[in-house]
Amino acid sequence: MTEQHRIVFTPSGKRGDFAEGTSVLEAARSLGVDVDSVCGGRGICGRCQVLVAEGDFAKHGIQSTADHLTEWNSVEERYTSKRGALGEHRRLGCQAKLCGDVVIDVPPESQVHRQVVRKKAETRAITLEPVVRLYFVEVAEPDIDSPSSDYTRLVEALKTQWNIDASMPDLAVLRGLQKTLRKGEWKVTIAVRKGHDIVAIYPGLIETAYGVAVDVGSTTIAAHLSDLYNGETLASAGLMNPQIRFGEDLMSRVSYVMMNPGGEVEMTDAVRAALDDLVGEVVKEAGITREGIVEMTVVGNPIMHHLFLGLDPTELGGAPFALTLDKGQDVKAREVGLSIAPGAFVYLLPCIAGHVGADTAGVVLSEAPHLNDDVTLVVDVGTNAEIVLGNKKRLLACSSPTGPAFEGAQLSSGQRAAPGAIERVRIDHETLEPKFKIIGSDLWSNEVGFWEEAAKTGVNGICGSGIIEAIAEMYLAGVITQDGVIDGDLQARTPRIVGEGRTFTYVLNDGEPRITITQADVRAIQLGKAALYAGVKLLLDHYGVDHVDRITLAGAFGSHIDVKYAMVLGLIPDCDLTKVGSAGNAAGTGARIALLNETARGEIESVVGKIEKIETAMEPKFQAHFVSAMAIPNKVDVFSNLAKVVTLPPPKVHAEPAEGEGGRRRRRG
Ligand code: FES
Repeated sequence: MTEQHRIVFTPSGKRGDFAEGTSVLEAARSLGVDVDSVCGGRGICGRCQVLVAEGDFAKHGIQSTADHLTEWNSVEERYTSKRGALGEHRRLGCQAKLCGDVVIDVPPESQVHRQVVRKKAETRAITLEPVVRLYFVEVAEPDIDSPSSDYTRLVEALKTQWNIDASMPDLAVLRGLQKTLRKGEWKVTIAVRKGHDIVAIYPGLIETAYGVAVDVGSTTIAAHLSDLYNGETLASAGLMNPQIRFGEDLMSRVSYVMMNPGGEVEMTDAVRAALDDLVGEVVKEAGITREGIVEMTVVGNPIMHHLFLGLDPTELGGAPFALTLDKGQDVKAREVGLSIAPGAFVYLLPCIAGHVGADTAGVVLSEAPHLNDDVTLVVDVGTNAEIVLGNKKRLLACSSPTGPAFEGAQLSSGQRAAPGAIERVRIDHETLEPKFKIIGSDLWSNEVGFWEEAAKTGVNGICGSGIIEAIAEMYLAGVITQDGVIDGDLQARTPRIVGEGRTFTYVLNDGEPRITITQADVRAIQLGKAALYAGVKLLLDHYGVDHVDRITLAGAFGSHIDVKYAMVLGLIPDCDLTKVGSAGNAAGTGARIALLNETARGEIESVVGKIEKIETAMEPKFQAHFVSAMAIPNKVDVFSNLAKVVTLPPPKVHAEPAEGEGGRRRRRG
């Protein structure tokens, strides 16, 4: 009987006894140890590299040395002469065979399911588990004595060399098959999806495959190209959503469809062309070909999701906001106008409800409130706020009509976040004099050199994060009352407050241009923040809790606002400030997770299926919560965590009526 040797793999700890001459890769496979391979043990891909740990491993009862593996062989010699040295103690796992007991370390880069590093420590790691994998095969050449098709021999090679049963051939893949086989001299790499669908065939050995994750926003579209084998993002690109020419916000785009028969086709064509352009940009930046992209994922709000798929969004324009489809969906890339690998698919994450889309599903996947004990509030602020609340026991979601004020729109001096926009504001509580910072400069406006720097961009207006700080500071300095009325009595103390009709205005920049916060601006922000807060309160009511343990602000707006000021304003509920943070483009991150990890797709579909959807427009308590939330920070709720770090002013009531009172109509966009 052949001699048996023990092999122990680290870090998995898996072990077993194998016959002399078994390769390390074979032993790993039979033990279920995660060791990569594209070439199937031919010694050409280098994916199976392992390290021999030398020494006396008492706990395993073995003495491990490098010469307990067969000698360095000619295949390894050929590999290193072409590709460079392997590094000390490294061997190709498919070539090194057992001739004694060994401890073998599998480095992260040789693991199929390695983890991708994410920047934030508190976010979940992404485990690589791409839906498409590459398999190198040698296909038998045609033989006149035993006729069979090229496809049949290709499928036989996949079966015998990788034990993969290919499903029905894709016509677009078949079209290139014969040329590819001959070009590769009967050696090809096959991209296989979900273990059976052939999405691409490349001549020779191809060592990595790529995917693109896309976040289709109503204003901008962003695409990130990732290496599916190491998870790295190799290129990113973004552009304005060309549908803007059909309407700035979502509702006006739905109206366009209603008013113009066939309008949805125009918008579908526009968004698909934009995505295809973005694919062109990222492949160019990464220096790869379109055919190298074997999979894409897409997130977007329900209207973007429907328009991308070519589904009529009309029903999403009004109650009861019925989606055509709320499940995750695979579509052939070529069916949605994308030129990538011939048989590649696009996966769309599921929509949650008629106004809580696949982008929010992406945020949930990225921030994972469903895996935590903490009751977490996740808010994505735009013209609508998408709100998710809960933990591993329950998740609830709603959307709330915040309006465009947080994006700087419809404010007297508002603008989008761009160089020259005021983004930080402080007001001296004694003199009521302001100082501010603009995007593009680190200096405060009262510091030496500020105006020289500002001359490059100008001081153009105030963006969403700036208006939040301005109004919160006005409140803290006593310029506005808890009800949001600008106190005209202060005209006696400062020239910054000026009368305009029956109301007053605070002058933030008395230069060119003159930048002011008017009473109507304060009202617009109050209406927006009250809508958001009322949505949060409804979810808290439904969950049956009166506070949240953690708050995550998602989206571009969320990453720029100072959470302390957001809380002073009463945009978000009271919470320990150390537990409040921003997640950046969490929707895009969710798309990337779904791109890199197949299991995550099933996970988010299952989580979304269980999310309890709350329709704010139908809730009788919404109006009461809204009215309380018009006050700063809130008429009834106590902000005790906030009071520990900020001195909130005593209540100050002012009799002046304010313009723009009243609730708000639901709007989308
Ligand atoms: S499996 Fe490809 S080199 Fe070893």
